Amino acid sequence: MMNMARNTTVPAGLPSLDVDSASHLRAMQDYLAYRIQHTDDGFMPFEEWMQHALYAPGLGYYAAGSTKFGSEAPEGDFTTGPELTPLFGQALAGQVAQILAATGTKTVLEVGAGTGALAAALIPALNLLDIRPQYQILEVSGELRERQQQRLEGLHANVQWLKALPSDFKGCIIANEVLDAMPTTLFRWDDAGNVLELGVGLESSSTQQDGAGPDAGQPRFMLAERPADEYLQTLVALRMPPLPGYRSEINIQAEAWMRQLGAWLKKGAALLIDYGFPQREFYHPQRAEGTLMCHFRHHAHADPLLYPGLQDITTHVDFTAMADAALEGGLDILGYTSQARFLMNAGLIEILTGLDPHDAAGYAKVVGPVQKLLSEAEMGELFKVMAVGRGLDVPLMGFTSGDRRDRL
Ligand SMILES: C[S@@+](CC[C@H](N)C(=O)[O-])C[C@H]1O[C@@H](n2cnc3c(N)ncnc32)[C@H](O)[C@@H]1O
Repeated sequence: MMNMARNTTVPAGLPSLDVDSASHLRAMQDYLAYRIQHTDDGFMPFEEWMQHALYAPGLGYYAAGSTKFGSEAPEGDFTTGPELTPLFGQALAGQVAQILAATGTKTVLEVGAGTGALAAALIPALNLLDIRPQYQILEVSGELRERQQQRLEGLHANVQWLKALPSDFKGCIIANEVLDAMPTTLFRWDDAGNVLELGVGLESSSTQQDGAGPDAGQPRFMLAERPADEYLQTLVALRMPPLPGYRSEINIQAEAWMRQLGAWLKKGAALLIDYGFPQREFYHPQRAEGTLMCHFRHHAHADPLLYPGLQDITTHVDFTAMADAALEGGLDILGYTSQARFLMNAGLIEILTGLDPHDAAGYAKVVGPVQKLLSEAEMGELFKVMAVGRGLDVPLMGFTSGDRRDRL
């Protein structure tokens, strides 16, 4: 295992931690240090670090009680389309209704539902189309599941929380910003053309904080590297040429999830909405540091070791890899386009034009967030929508113009 120097300074502008956050951080660091100490070689693969940092029960970022979602500081750490505006869910409703009609079911499965914001907008919008959906949610975070239950209680809708993936699903699946939250593998090409796997180790005890201050005994983490196994070496080499020093990610877990989708989606379609690109762009020579980002109170930075349990860790989605995995799972790729195109094809502009033009203040409030969803400089172009499915023979309305499947 080779250790890598780590810049331990907190990026400028990051808000300081309050007492509760600092003690949560310390508990998480102790937990992670314990896990690392109990590995054979003191090396925790980055995928495992991200798994614990985001999902360790009671401690992980998504599994513990921090606010997380919020459209502006100081609320939460980041925002998402459904959190920005209910028009996101309202626009999706037309596409979901079309998929339900084509499959002859009323079952919608939302994967990773966050605070329940999408369901809270989508279910009433489907009701307006005379559809009372059987709405299912699959959520890995117990804390978020509780928040979803509280939020959706008042809808008096048919909502069910699943404990595991279904086995024989017919209907429509939605996953907004879920693939990006799946733990990823980090790699780097060395100068000799070998792939190294990145992980996390502990700094030797001599460099750990000692003395009697608040940081006494605090574990200190560092990025470490080891030669990639043959599987990872081959996977990486199939996707990009060797570029000395180039560091990026390969989301083996998300690909496995997509492949597995082919086993349980019997008829219908899954709408996968996320930030990302086709593989050629993902591994562009200029993207030499990869796409990994952390979010803490609306500040973005690139140090995944900084505040485990307190900060979001995310990577962009390689949509070519997701499409390949879906094809391997026996699914068809039904469409791929930008979020802006998808939402406009699905009827977002018609929803806007249906608003009361005399209510100038109300209109302005609605238009701002919609602009964020559509603007090329914000979420409109970076975010993509991909539909994969089985047994559907109708062209999906969300992709009627601007379908870019040929770029995958
Ligand atoms: C970035 S948040 C997005 C939440 C919500 N979809 C939104 O757009 O506001 C990621 C969500 O996916 C959940 N999640 C991550 N991996 C998951 C998995 N394998 N199965 C189900 N939920 C998952 C997280 O707990 C969280 O609710």
